[in-house]
This record gives sequence, structure tokens and C-alpha cells, in this order.
Amino acid sequence: MKRRRVLLVMHEELMPPDSIEGVPEEEIYKWQVEWDVHSALKRAGHDVICLGVKDELGPIRKAIVEHKPHVVFNLLGHFQGITAYDAHVVSWIELRHVPYTGCNPRGLLLSSDKVLSKKILSFHRIPSPAFQTFKRGRAVRVPKRLVFPLFVKSAAEHASIGIAQASIVQTENALRERVAFIHDTVGTDALAEHYIEGRELYVAVMGNQRLKVFPIWEMTFDNLPKGAAPIATSQVKWNVAYQKKIGVNTGLAKDLPEGVENRICRLAKRIYRALGLSGYARIDLRLDANGQVWVLEANANPDLSREEDFAESARSAGLEYADLLYRIMNLGIGYAPAWKDDADG
Ligand SMILES: Nc1ncnc2c1ncn2[C@@H]1O[C@H](COP(=O)(O)OP(=O)(O)O)[C@@H](O)[C@H]1O
Ligand SMILES: [Mg+2]
Repeated sequence: MKRRRVLLVMHEELMPPDSIEGVPEEEIYKWQVEWDVHSALKRAGHDVICLGVKDELGPIRKAIVEHKPHVVFNLLGHFQGITAYDAHVVSWIELRHVPYTGCNPRGLLLSSDKVLSKKILSFHRIPSPAFQTFKRGRAVRVPKRLVFPLFVKSAAEHASIGIAQASIVQTENALRERVAFIHDTVGTDALAEHYIEGRELYVAVMGNQRLKVFPIWEMTFDNLPKGAAPIATSQVKWNVAYQKKIGVNTGLAKDLPEGVENRICRLAKRIYRALGLSGYARIDLRLDANGQVWVLEANANPDLSREEDFAESARSAGLEYADLLYRIMNLGIGYAPAWKDDADG
């Protein structure tokens, strides 16, 4: 492992302290990934500068000029409070000809737009649930081709914002209500898609040209209340007490039907390429009772916490956390943006 000069860029309010001794779990949870990445890079002997970013690019420019990092380790999930602006920051870093970890701006843009990415996947004949977009400020017209039950979610947000058991709707009235909820409460366009009953699978993919697909991961629910559906609501993702109560677990997907693992592996690579992803990504899928695999979305730059799905799945394949982060940095350094082509030509 070479020693890298790393500029670790994160949200200012998520800068971890120097030590977590005595800090309660609920506090650590907020900046878990920042803590995990920072401490692992330092322990591995890299020369790490930690930079908290608010609404300005100036501090990143200054840190790049001062420290001349081999790579910017990008932990930003939004910029100026706008999710889609994470891609703009990466574009700006790329314009400065500095390597960065994770996905390129185009892949970030395509994958974070759920509607656009579904359209692209449909061109490639990759199965994702049939859908309809409901724009804010427009009358809700429900096309006949949509078959209930439907699942209503935000067209632009992630992290299960606005997702609850009530996201599954059985009637046109319930659909209208939930669309209005997304418009008014989440504040984005809404997306209604066919509800896929089945198993919840995640697959971690890493690479630029040559892709590595890690073992398929599954979210299971051991203690789901009667009548509740096994879906990753915001409560399931973010409320630790609730997770315990309903027995949420994630781990290696066991006893998948014959051939499904191979199919998912090939599918994951096709999705990654179709959406122009690079670095690392996690793809969310559902497997229905007929053995059909449906893509819900591709997450560029997914959570890299040591104990989250991506790193755990990599570890199950023999890749320890520090080595995973090192590979991710190398992928950033090895990525060939357009300016490198120009320099060669
Ligand atoms: N069409 C669907 N059918 C069944 N479950 C769904 C569907 N869409 C979303 N979900 C559930 O909601 C969760 C979050 O949806 P997802 O599209 O991955 O958005 P996010 O970006 O918020 O993670 C999924 O992990 C899944 O459990
Ligand atoms: Mg998801």
C-alpha cells in the first residue's frame, strides 16, 4: 500500500471529533462514515487532511493548493442543501484536474434522477417497475395502465425520505393522497411505481472499466408486525430502536433460487455501465416470488461506514476495510476524465 496524501472532504456539521471516548452511540451515528473513513485512513498511515465544507468551494480550492493531495476523498452527499448539487462539486474538482473518489459527475446526475435512470434502464431492457411521474403543481391524472398496488416515493430524494408503510397504495384515492404528501412534505415530484412484493437485495459494485461485484446482501425483518410489508422505510433505515423492535438485519443473501446470483451479478454490471457509474455504487433490487429481479435504483457513492452493507459485503469477499478504501482511492486516481484524453491526444 502506497502512502497517499488525502484531502478528506465532508459536511462541516459532520466533522468527527478526535476521539469517540465517552460519546453516546446516538451521537456517533450521525457522523459514523466520516469517523470510520478518517480513522481507517489515518491508521493505515495515509497523510490525511480533514476538511469540513459548508456552502463555499473556496476552502476546497485552498486545501488543494496547500496540500496538493493525490486524491480528494469525497464524502459529500449534497451541496448548499441540494442533493443534486453533489455532482456539481465533483465537476468542479474534475475541472481542477484533481482526482477524487467515487462517481463521476455524469453518473451521479443520471443515477440520482430516479425517473431518468428508469428511462435509461428501460432502453437497455433492464427490468425496473412500471411507473408514472406526478409533477408538483400539476393535476394528478392516473393512467389506466398502472396496476395497483403501487409504491409512491420521491423522484429525487434518497435515504428513504418520505417512505413509510403508507407508501404502498391500493386505491386511486390513496395514491392521490400519498402523491400530495410527497409534493407537500418532501417538496419534490413524486414517482409511483408497481409495488414489487418480495425480497430486498443490495449489490455492491466497484470499478471504472473492469467491475467487481461483491456478494449479494439482503435486508431481512424477523419481527415485522402483522400486515406490515418488508420494505426499507425511513424508520427502518434511521431509527435504531425501531430496527431492534422489528428485527431488521442485513447480511449475505441465503438460499437464492438457482441462477439468480449469476443473473444479479450480470445485471448489476449492466446497470452500472448503462448509468455511466464509476468508483463504487450499490444497486437496490427486489426479487419477486417468480424469481424475477427488479431494479429499484442505483446509488452512486453509497454509505461507506465500516458496518454498512457496502463494506460488509466487500469484507465477506475478503476485502478488509482499509484495503477497500485504498482501492477506492486508486480507482479515483486511475479514473480517466475527458481532460486526460485531451492531454494524451
Ligand atoms: N417499487 C417498489 N416495490 C417495493 N418496494 C419498494 C419499491 N420502491 C421502493 N421500495 C422500498 O422502499 C425502499 C427505498 O426505495 P428506493 O427506491 O431505494 O429509494 P431511496 O433512494 O430512498 O433508497 C426500498 O429499499 C424498498 O424497500
Ligand atoms: Mg435505496
